[in-house]
Amino acid sequence: MIELQTISDLRRWASGERAAGRRVALVPTMGYLHEGHLRLVDAARGRADSTVMSVFVNPLQFGPAEDLARYPRDLARDRVLAEDRGVTALFAPSEQVMYPAGSEIRVLPGATAERWEGAARPGHFAGVLTVVAKLFHLAEPDVACFGRKDIQQATLVRQMVRDLDWPLEIVVVPTVREPDGLALSSRNAYLNPDERRRALVLSRALGAAHEAYRAGRRRAGALLDAMRPQLALEPAVTVEYVAIAEPRALTPVDVVEADTVVALAARVGSTRLIDNIILDQGLGG
Ligand code: PAJ
Repeated sequence: MIELQTISDLRRWASGERAAGRRVALVPTMGYLHEGHLRLVDAARGRADSTVMSVFVNPLQFGPAEDLARYPRDLARDRVLAEDRGVTALFAPSEQVMYPAGSEIRVLPGATAERWEGAARPGHFAGVLTVVAKLFHLAEPDVACFGRKDIQQATLVRQMVRDLDWPLEIVVVPTVREPDGLALSSRNAYLNPDERRRALVLSRALGAAHEAYRAGRRRAGALLDAMRPQLALEPAVTVEYVAIAEPRALTPVDVVEADTVVALAARVGSTRLIDNIILDQGLGG
């Protein structure tokens, strides 16, 4: 695995790959890698000859009161995990490289970015799309892989690629979970054992929505009713939103279908967690 740090390093590597006729896949991450990130690498390797992973904790997507300073980082460990999984090139730039002084242009998302996560985290998705746009320009990948865990992010990246006519394929990979159902997340590192146990209500509530759907319930309200008792089991878990929405722009629906998304965000102590399912797939999808 080769390591790239500057804009010109990445450009040079990517154009060499293209010149050699190799298909390139990009896996953008903020590091502190776990099996969810590595599953994106597997998806990338299945679709391209070379895989470039970025590891960059993007300050633009963190609000002023958020966890940028304490976001977990361990580049030495990430290096080993990425190399073992078959990443061809690791791009780990500094903040100075990505946003030199004077850098102020942003990608402006539309209404999809104002709902759910966007309502809770103003400016978050402009920050995400700006860094993803830069990475797309630098690596010019044939394919880029994102996790369904961050479903609104994946939706917005698809919209950006469509609306800006980017010639690349976006692959969205199912959420990887712990055996007990908790979705893997770098932020799980913040949870103490007690919070880790309480955090299970998120996936259990989504499981309850899935069960209600399988039992024939088709009203969003009926799914919410099925989720509520699970969420009430842990009063220390504060739910920020439960979204029952169609998959294209995540607008709310009253009547659910197989591809309807059920997504939620909650605070467990000081840690903010998100999770979601696609109804007919449940926690396994
Ligand atoms: P990060 O949270 O590090 O996640 C990187 C990628 O891994 C995202 O596409 C995310 O959806 C995916 N991922 C995270 N947990 C997952 C899980 N349990 N199962 C499957 N995939 C999972 O998302 C970001 O970074 C940033 O916003 C980024 C896109 C890198 C832009 O800065």
